[in-house]
Amino acid sequence: MSSAPDTGAAVRSAPANLPRRHFVNILLGTGLLASAASFLYPVLRYLVPPKLPDMGDDAVLAAHISELKPNTATTFRFGARPGLLVETAAGEYRAMSATCTHLGCTVQYRPDLREIWCPCHNGIYDLNGRNISGPPPRPLEAFEVQIRGGDIFVRRKQEA
Ligand code: FES
Repeated sequence: MSSAPDTGAAVRSAPANLPRRHFVNILLGTGLLASAASFLYPVLRYLVPPKLPDMGDDAVLAAHISELKPNTATTFRFGARPGLLVETAAGEYRAMSATCTHLGCTVQYRPDLREIWCPCHNGIYDLNGRNISGPPPRPLEAFEVQIRGGDIFVRRKQEA
């Protein structure tokens, strides 16, 4: 009798292992696909952003008159983006988009400068939203201001 191990048994059991090997391959493949999808999905969402709801021409309530004093400002929500309402030192109201035209940071009013300032890269806009210093390439979108009773409403400027 031979004492050598029977290698034929391992060869004979190979077909029995095939479904298990196939199952492991499917599991690994599914894991790799899920990993790839989890990396690619944010990239695709960044490259093709979803359409955001827009306010169109509708007026939105930006503030109550009592909330502002001369040489101050407040932000408000204009659709999916922020807006900036400024009461100038002379008591006039100016409204514009608060999204910087450089890389999209939110701008703010600087009472000490009496200008609109973007803190990300030190961009400066005047009170009409014109870009006057720093990297912003375009003016801020200016909005139309309407006073109704004690409320300040803002809407997109109508094309002439
Ligand atoms: S994002 Fe405003 S200056 Fe760069």
